[in-house]
Amino acid sequence: MPASAPDAAFRAALGRFPTGVTVVSTVHDDVDHAITASAFTSVSLVPPRVLVCVDTRTRFHDPIMATRSWGVSILAEEGREAASWLATRGRPIEHQLDAVAHHRGPATGAALLDAALGWLECRTWRTYDGGDHTIVVGTVVAAAIAVGRDDPLLYYRSHYGSLIRQPVSEHGPDPLPVDPAPAAPELPVLEPGSGSGGG
Ligand SMILES: Cc1cc2nc3c(=O)[nH]c(=O)nc-3n(C[C@H](O)[C@H](O)[C@H](O)COP(=O)(O)O)c2cc1C
Repeated sequence: MPASAPDAAFRAALGRFPTGVTVVSTVHDDVDHAITASAFTSVSLVPPRVLVCVDTRTRFHDPIMATRSWGVSILAEEGREAASWLATRGRPIEHQLDAVAHHRGPATGAALLDAALGWLECRTWRTYDGGDHTIVVGTVVAAAIAVGRDDPLLYYRSHYGSLIRQPVSEHGPDPLPVDPAPAAPELPVLEPGSGSGGG
């Protein structure tokens, strides 16, 4: 594959890997920076770590590298409009979250979107040069879920989508609680030192 331009087959193959959708955010110099990101994954359970790959050409790149402190909102279907907005190149940075319902993470102050199934707050542990993206690995310092919410926003072949559940999975009946309680964006703060490491 040529190094100068993304290979069409490579992109097409990647597009056939369905993902969830997150918004990753940080506060730099009192300004909220955020991007829609699907290149997100868990890395380690103990200590709790996740990673996100951030395009070096985004305006988000330098702020997240500077603050080393960030939030992840794992979007619900309702977050689709926000996902589109926060993926729009050239949108104004200041006030970009004014029309996006959010709350503040207690550990980092990062903006966490209300239209989410769960939230993580992270402190950068290591970063790696991945090419045109930087791999940012963070230690999770706080985590919470929206109780009763169960409708992830998905992304596949450049389209947003919804999860269609099989009636019975291979692991047996759906174990997810059907709890009508409203979303509770209260984040219990994890003790950074409670695992075998931290950053
Ligand atoms: C569904 C979706 C997933 C995306 N995932 C990523 C990602 O994982 N990492 C990334 O750097 N950009 C990702 N992007 C693109 C960024 O959201 C977009 O480039 C960024 O918002 C541009 O911000 P800027 O105009 O401030 O530079 C994704 C876009 C979409 C629509």
